[in-house]
Amino acid sequence: MSEPILKAIRLTRHFRVGGSLFTQPKTLRAVEDVSLSVEQGETLAIVGESGCGKSTLARMLMRLIEPTSGQMLFEGRQIDQAEGRALTELRRDMQFIFQDPFSSLNPRMSVGRLVGEPLETHAPGLSAQERRAKVADLLSQVGLRAEHAGRYPHEFSGGQRQRIGIARALASGPKLIIGDEPVSALDVSVQAQVINLLAELRDRLGLTLVVIAHDLAVIRHMSDRVAVMYLGKIVEEGPTDEIFAHPRHPYTMALLSAIPEAEHGRTRRQIALTGEMPSPVDPPSGCRFRTRCRFARETCAAEIPALRETDTGPGHRAACHFFEEIAAEAPSPPASAGTGRTDAARARFSLYADAVSGTGIRPRATT
Ligand SMILES: Nc1ncnc2c1ncn2[C@@H]1O[C@H](COP(=O)(O)OP(=O)(O)OP(=O)(O)O)[C@@H](O)[C@H]1O
Ligand code: SF4
Ligand SMILES: [Mg+2]
Repeated sequence: MSEPILKAIRLTRHFRVGGSLFTQPKTLRAVEDVSLSVEQGETLAIVGESGCGKSTLARMLMRLIEPTSGQMLFEGRQIDQAEGRALTELRRDMQFIFQDPFSSLNPRMSVGRLVGEPLETHAPGLSAQERRAKVADLLSQVGLRAEHAGRYPHEFSGGQRQRIGIARALASGPKLIIGDEPVSALDVSVQAQVINLLAELRDRLGLTLVVIAHDLAVIRHMSDRVAVMYLGKIVEEGPTDEIFAHPRHPYTMALLSAIPEAEHGRTRRQIALTGEMPSPVDPPSGCRFRTRCRFARETCAAEIPALRETDTGPGHRAACHFFEEIAAEAPSPPASAGTGRTDAARARFSLYADAVSGTGIRPRATT
């Protein structure tokens, strides 16, 4: 297998919180010892409940915040120490799409300036006319028109504003885009359109995507692999089809069981996820999920479970001491069809395209 385009090795981010004249600040363990790799051209989805550390992880990967410890490599180059020209190149190659397209776009800048601004840094040789033409091209790539360049963000709908954010992200000609909940602020019907657009751009431009989401149903249709986070750690990761067909971690099982049956077209027993996620200031010892896990036993409090290969195929790993026993107790339904990573993702996407076409949304071609 070729070298991953992006690799994180034991990435950790702690924040100092609280503290006053009379009390010591505490350490909030937002992301703890997370390793992951993303292959060129694939879509990795990172899912988990609110506060589990998804945005902190994404911001570290983008070098928007510094890790407390750990390493990151982009195309084999170490990026956690990158500065100067190396950091500028990184900003060109990796772009970020924010959750809230309104607050991430400067309301005083026209769309033309918003989309053209990154070109000043990353394509400084362009004449004003060439830059205008490039902006018009970027707008058309995201389904907007050249005349939109003269308007301001408040004149657009939420979905259109997210398209402007995507055009801005595309301006530098990135290889990888990280979307932090890029559709969760949008209406459901508009979510499908923006997901279609991202999938189309990925296929057409050969982009690699890292997409963060709360909603497993949303990412199923566009991702090749899924990493499930809980309280700062990855608890399960693997090919999307495997995760959906043979979840091995009790947390993933609970998340999947909450998806309405119509989504996956088969019966899945609802597994209640009780209680709140504990505070990352004082996470449970051993397995961090143990306070909400119905399978927990003594070992779970004493030993941190390693992320290890499951029985279901290469690259599917889960961090649970007892996943073999748990899987034997509750056998998974058979895996859905799929003949390989890309084919499976395409098949899922066309299923999704069929689904949204019934809603009046016009899905785009995937090839
Ligand atoms: N700058 C900061 N200072 C202190 N704590 C922070 C900071 N940023 C994030 N945190 C804490 O780190 C933890 C992880 O936050 P993060 O925003 O990464 O979660 P998330 O999974 O993205 O959540 P959501 O789904 O709600 O966006 C939370 O407990 C949050 O309060
Ligand atoms: S290690 Fe123990 S507490 Fe953690 S998920 Fe597995 S059974 Fe549950
Ligand atoms: Mg977040």
